[in-house]
Amino acid sequence: MSSQTTDKSVVTTLVVLISALVLLAAVLFMVAALMGVVGNIAPDDGSRKQAAVLERIKPVAQVSFTVPKPAASTELKLSGQEVYNKVCAACHAAGVMGAPKVGAKDQWESRFAQGLDTLVKHSVTGIRAMPPKGGGSSLTEANLKDAVVYMLGETGIKTDAAPPPTATAPAPAAPAAAPAPSN
Ligand code: HEC
Repeated sequence: MSSQTTDKSVVTTLVVLISALVLLAAVLFMVAALMGVVGNIAPDDGSRKQAAVLERIKPVAQVSFTVPKPAASTELKLSGQEVYNKVCAACHAAGVMGAPKVGAKDQWESRFAQGLDTLVKHSVTGIRAMPPKGGGSSLTEANLKDAVVYMLGETGIKTDAAPPPTATAPAPAAPAAAPAPSN
């Protein structure tokens, strides 16, 4: 290989290299321009970083000046099922202390014979081992009625406005009188 040929090939290599670099620069410029258009990325003046820091160090708790809703109105929104699960199920799911068990139709039929209104009334005032409102003192009468209707429904007793069947025997364990005198 003569030195002239070597020079020539060096020049060719340089030219190829330089044009490749120019091409690369052009491509990079185009990509950068494209990203600027597509992403519309604002130059980071530190404001995003600052926002992130503020987010990280913001107080854990915040004082709210909105007036809390009275408990009664939230109780009102409970469905019969929710009231049952919250309060009544404690006794009526398993039949604690002789509570009529949900699902046991024979235990409920005689009680239902008293009429839904009476059942609701007894739920409000309590009856024998059953505490007033089942212990859920913030419950409204409507809550209790919904819960009674729910329990009856789960037991297979329809309550929709139908008057209680008069043919059924009166409740054995539910005279309106006070508990039998012990001695
Ligand atoms: C601490 C246990 C307990 C809880 C909680 C409880 N009950 Fe009772 N419940 C009883 C017992 C015990 C009886 C049976 C009382 C009896 O006739 O001697 C009863 C009876 C009833 C009766 C039948 C009343 C009647 O006149 O025959 C209804 C209706 C009733 N409960 C509704 C409810 C509702 C609604 C709730 C939930 C809001 C509830 N109970 C929560 C224990 C409970």
